[in-house]
Amino acid sequence: MSEYNKLLEAIEFLKTKGIHNSDVGIILGTGLGKLVNEIEIKHIIPYSEIPHFPESTVEFHSGKLIIGRLGEKNVIAMQGRFHLYEGYSANQVVFPVRVMKLLGVQLLLVTNAAGGINLNYSKGQIVLLDDHINLLPDNPLIGSNIDELGHRFPDMSAPYSKRVGKIVVEEAEKLGYTIEKGVYASVTGPNLETRAEYRFLRTIGADLVGMSTVPEVIAAKHMGLECVAISIVTDLCDPDNLEEAKIEDILTNAAIGEQELLRIVPKVIERV
Ligand code: HPA
Repeated sequence: MSEYNKLLEAIEFLKTKGIHNSDVGIILGTGLGKLVNEIEIKHIIPYSEIPHFPESTVEFHSGKLIIGRLGEKNVIAMQGRFHLYEGYSANQVVFPVRVMKLLGVQLLLVTNAAGGINLNYSKGQIVLLDDHINLLPDNPLIGSNIDELGHRFPDMSAPYSKRVGKIVVEEAEKLGYTIEKGVYASVTGPNLETRAEYRFLRTIGADLVGMSTVPEVIAAKHMGLECVAISIVTDLCDPDNLEEAKIEDILTNAAIGEQELLRIVPKVIERV
């Protein structure tokens, strides 16, 4: 079966559950599930029920689509996303993003936990992405182009929406701070990086490093979706003073930044 027909089957299933016409798609990153509590939930659909959806394997990801209202918009949130390190191809990773688009979503809002290569950042801080570097050995657009979704050679001159980015900056200002912007480099993981790799990432212009986001944004741009992405800095990647990274600390710092996300995201969605 073609990829497009698989998508149509997933859409058909979701429509029989009463889900249609969403405005904003949200991807919740590692340790960032609390935003779901802000959603006035209408439906919860486990990934395992949706035809052709990959199954989430990381234990702290519960793997559900949450459909409801947030900031006076219809939203679809992914609680639990797919990563290359789980063994999925980039094409599998973006299946849900394509589903969101076919359900009418016009804006994709992505969150993630990331390492801070830029040492002006601090742990727990949120950073608005303004560009990315794809270091993954895969790309969701490899293979036959899905002509129904977009062109073979999509433009990537501005993956992140300036319009929505401006709204994020303004809402941060209203909350009393200046939000930093940064370039996100995507790596496969699952190991964190060596000191030499952090130096390399700094040299090539990355401010942040993480194991997600870029495949989803590439697929979204292919379909003409606007994208906005916010990272939470969970650890500082200082090659000259590198501390051992512990997953518990990463999750603790993700939870600190999440408080800021909870304040800003509903306001941004209201204005897009
Ligand atoms: N490297 C890669 N991914 C990450 C990191 C990191 O330092 N921190 C959180 N996700």
